[in-house]
Amino acid sequence: MTSLVYTVTETLRYRGAIGQWSWVLHRITGLGVLFFLVLHVIDTSWAVFYPGLYEEAIKIYQTPLFTAGEFALVAAVVYHALNGIRIAVFDYRPAWWRYQRQAAIYVLLGTVLILIPVFIGMFGHVLAHYGSNPDVLPLGTVLAAQLPFAVGIVAAIIAALILSALYGALAGDRTGTRKPPSAMEKFWWSYMRISGVLILPLVFGHLAMMHVLQGVFDITAQDSVIVATSAINESGTATEFVFERWSYAIAGVYVWRLFDIALLALVTLHGFNGLRYVLTDYAGNSTVRRAMVILCALGTVVLLAVGGAALLAGVDETAIQMAEQALQTIGQH
Ligand code: HEM
Ligand code: HEM
Repeated sequence: MTSLVYTVTETLRYRGAIGQWSWVLHRITGLGVLFFLVLHVIDTSWAVFYPGLYEEAIKIYQTPLFTAGEFALVAAVVYHALNGIRIAVFDYRPAWWRYQRQAAIYVLLGTVLILIPVFIGMFGHVLAHYGSNPDVLPLGTVLAAQLPFAVGIVAAIIAALILSALYGALAGDRTGTRKPPSAMEKFWWSYMRISGVLILPLVFGHLAMMHVLQGVFDITAQDSVIVATSAINESGTATEFVFERWSYAIAGVYVWRLFDIALLALVTLHGFNGLRYVLTDYAGNSTVRRAMVILCALGTVVLLAVGGAALLAGVDETAIQMAEQALQTIGQH
């Protein structure tokens, strides 16, 4: 806790030093995107397991609160990605360290330059959607739907603390013995950099399809061509959108399913290992510290299992019928 207070006070006191600000921004953007990813992978799995719930989740994405969040998400991904590339390049090129300040400024400029056309494209979808007087879910419903996620996160923290205390009681406390970085830690250090470079085209490609080319509102546009496939969304359900994306094959290969598998694996490990860095930085007590590592491991396993199960099972025609029925029942279609 003291180190968290120290981070905040020192960043403010040390204002003007761009390196410090870019470090804080990198941290906040990474955590923000990870938070979104957890909700997003769980939501997406509903297209397979609970199509009715998936339709509701996408309706929630199509509300003003989430529209604002969508702009913040895209800005966070772009800044984090460019700054991540800067970190990776400079780590492997110590001779360039004296240009850190300029590089941090270029990252900010690059972010703005990318965001201007992207935001203009996204804004076009936003205007078209809200200009058509759509049914918008009330804010109370949107917030209430997020409650189970909050409860899940609290339950995971409590479970991690209990597991850590049990482990401490059984195996004894081994803190105080400072060891040099293990081979495992070196692996994770390299993984963060290599995965970052690999994620970049995947996540930018995914966002280009879901925000710029088609947009989150068009996921449920009836009779529209589904982005990067040759299929039409006949039912206008979000479930059919995922069905067609995951069934689209080139030479027998389900390209978007494979793409999502790679994205899921790379970002989940990268994001939760990043979260481990952040949480263990601020945990003084050894039980809490170990609990944070357990929490990140639990998060990784749950997200890979839920997302992986959905991707491997795929959506079927029955799910689309269930989604249509659910939409009729809630009177939103
Ligand atoms: C788009 C390409 C991305 C690149 C190039 C990238 C790069 C990096 C790099 C180089 C680090 C520093 C690692 C270290 O300190 O050892 C990092 C940290 C982190 N990344 Fe990413 N990343 C990307 C995407 C993501 C995504 C999609 C998420 C969320 C799911 C994420 C979450 C995090 C978190 C939470 C941290 C820890 C921040 C800290 O220690 O202060 N990153 N990233
Ligand atoms: C609001 C922004 C976003 C929208 C509307 C969106 C939309 C979608 C949709 C419709 C799918 C279903 C499959 C497909 O069509 O490919 C999907 C899957 C996926 N998306 Fe996104 N996406 C967004 C942002 C992101 C971001 C920022 C990330 C990474 C950090 C991400 C990671 C994934 C992953 C890993 C999957 C596969 C999920 C699974 O395993 O079930 N998405 N997304």
